[in-house]
Amino acid sequence: MKKSILIFTVLAGFSISVMGWSWYPQQKASQPETMSLVPMMQQLLKDIQQVDRGVFTENFEMIKEGAGNISDHPTMTAEDKKLVKQTLGKEMKQFVEFDMVVHHHADSMRMAAVRKNMQNVLKHYRITQQGCVDCHSNYREKISTARLEK
Ligand code: HEC
Repeated sequence: MKKSILIFTVLAGFSISVMGWSWYPQQKASQPETMSLVPMMQQLLKDIQQVDRGVFTENFEMIKEGAGNISDHPTMTAEDKKLVKQTLGKEMKQFVEFDMVVHHHADSMRMAAVRKNMQNVLKHYRITQQGCVDCHSNYREKISTARLEK
């Protein structure tokens, strides 16, 4: 009796440590909480390219990961937030709305990938892409110029 409890304890301890060990790298690979705007945008480009590859090779796992990284993208550093606020003033509200469109529809795209529904993936892909481009055509140059003049 005592012996089996001992074996159980040893086995349980062992499997918990193996689980902890195999989960750890995944946590480490997740995105940072904040990031400067330009590197963050370059990451978003990589993520949406990953979604593209997933769409054309019908790899829903790839779409799920890329879309998830877009919807959970890091927030701007405090310094960049200040720059954007100062540059846009009242228009900051619209800027945030474009960002929300991207967060929201990238998440819907991720969920469509989980359900392996390509039509819905594409539906939310288009809205996400429109959100990226809407923000760029309104604010990219302004913010980029303000950064250079700083
Ligand atoms: C809410 C606004 C906003 C949204 C949404 C947005 N961007 Fe951007 N993006 C910007 C701004 C502002 C810049 C210019 C930054 C600068 O030059 O300082 C930029 C620049 C870029 C750049 C150029 C980076 C470089 O190397 O100069 C890429 C690529 C990019 N965005 C990709 C994306 C993608 C992909 C999405 C959607 C998944 C997206 N962006 C959504 C605001 C946005």
